[in-house]
Amino acid sequence: MTNDVNRQWLLMKRPEGNIRKDDFRLTESPIPAPAQGQVLVRNLWLSFDPTQSGWMRRDTYIPIIPLGEVMRAASVGQVIESKHPDYKVGELVQGAFGWQDYIATDGAGFLPMRRLPADMPPNLALSLFGITGPTAYFGVLDVGQVKPGETFVVSGAAGATGSVAGQIAKLKGCRVIGTAGGKAKCEWLKEELGFDAVIDYQSENVGSRLSEFCPDGIDVFFDNVGGIVLNEVLARLKLRARIVLCGAISRYNDSTPAPGPANYGNLIVTRSRMEGFIILDYAARFPEAIGALAGWLKAGSLKQREDVAVGLENAPDTLVRLFTGQNFGKQLLKIAEPL
Ligand SMILES: NC(=O)c1ccc[n+]([C@@H]2O[C@H](COP(=O)([O-])OP(=O)(O)OC[C@H]3O[C@@H](n4cnc5c(N)ncnc54)[C@H](OP(=O)(O)O)[C@@H]3O)[C@@H](O)[C@H]2O)c1
Repeated sequence: MTNDVNRQWLLMKRPEGNIRKDDFRLTESPIPAPAQGQVLVRNLWLSFDPTQSGWMRRDTYIPIIPLGEVMRAASVGQVIESKHPDYKVGELVQGAFGWQDYIATDGAGFLPMRRLPADMPPNLALSLFGITGPTAYFGVLDVGQVKPGETFVVSGAAGATGSVAGQIAKLKGCRVIGTAGGKAKCEWLKEELGFDAVIDYQSENVGSRLSEFCPDGIDVFFDNVGGIVLNEVLARLKLRARIVLCGAISRYNDSTPAPGPANYGNLIVTRSRMEGFIILDYAARFPEAIGALAGWLKAGSLKQREDVAVGLENAPDTLVRLFTGQNFGKQLLKIAEPL
């Protein structure tokens, strides 16, 4: 059954500090009709990504979401009407369809619409094979340039990106140490994913545990979090270390920018490199990452975890989960089954 209205979550306010449900409003409008060159897509799954906080607040690597517009999100949907020469009714497609049931689109945008491979489940298309798997892959290998025997630290280690980054570093022969919040996540990293050591940043002293686990220093740091962990790592770099700036979620909801890390001067002493990257720049190389990730997944040498919410009405609460550490694995939301 399809709905006969289009439910849409609109962004109504710029968040002040943490994201709140009343930054959004749920509305209903008629299902749009596709124009020539467009398809009508029925949304099935939404991806939740920390970067959405930035999109709500300011221009980043893409423009800010205008107030009153549908909340932007990566998603998978099904073509239910087509006036586009390249797409047929029934096909599953991914793109940036937003927090709504339906969209009429020509597929252009910062995540151009593409067809899912025939055998790819929609959830995997948004998790391991969506943004976070390739981010881990290129962050570890291209930016981090890991080598066997190196000491690799990852923050946000139990998250969608961090858990894959740590496993890739292990597959490449590194000693891997992760930081994560809470006992359950730390246990999963050690027992299930085979991390060499974990630090519960909520209950342990990050600096002293890093000194204990990395007595000779750190070669590569894959940072998802920023803040205190980044500063403690900066104090413990080896010569020519690489710091992969993937994200800084501990800062995304700050109203004013926090001061920079006090230990940054150690980059000079150790001749180290600290480099940010945006995964969209690697779009042309996604098949390489997806091929490698699929191979490891099939061989059982890579595990991935998803945290699935259900119902479009729960979209704002689901986004908040990322910033309170409630998600355990890639946060998704299922809206509907394909027809
Ligand atoms: N550069 C790029 O192109 C790119 C692409 C994708 C993602 N990213 C970045 O990668 C990072 C991870 O994204 P993801 O999608 O994989 O999300 P995720 O790690 O699955 O979920 C977010 C996690 O961040 C942790 N967290 C939240 N607030 C925190 C705080 N104040 N201090 C420390 N940890 C906090 C929580 O884990 P705990 O329970 O362990 O605290 C939470 O589960 C984000 O910074 C994101 O922006 C960057």
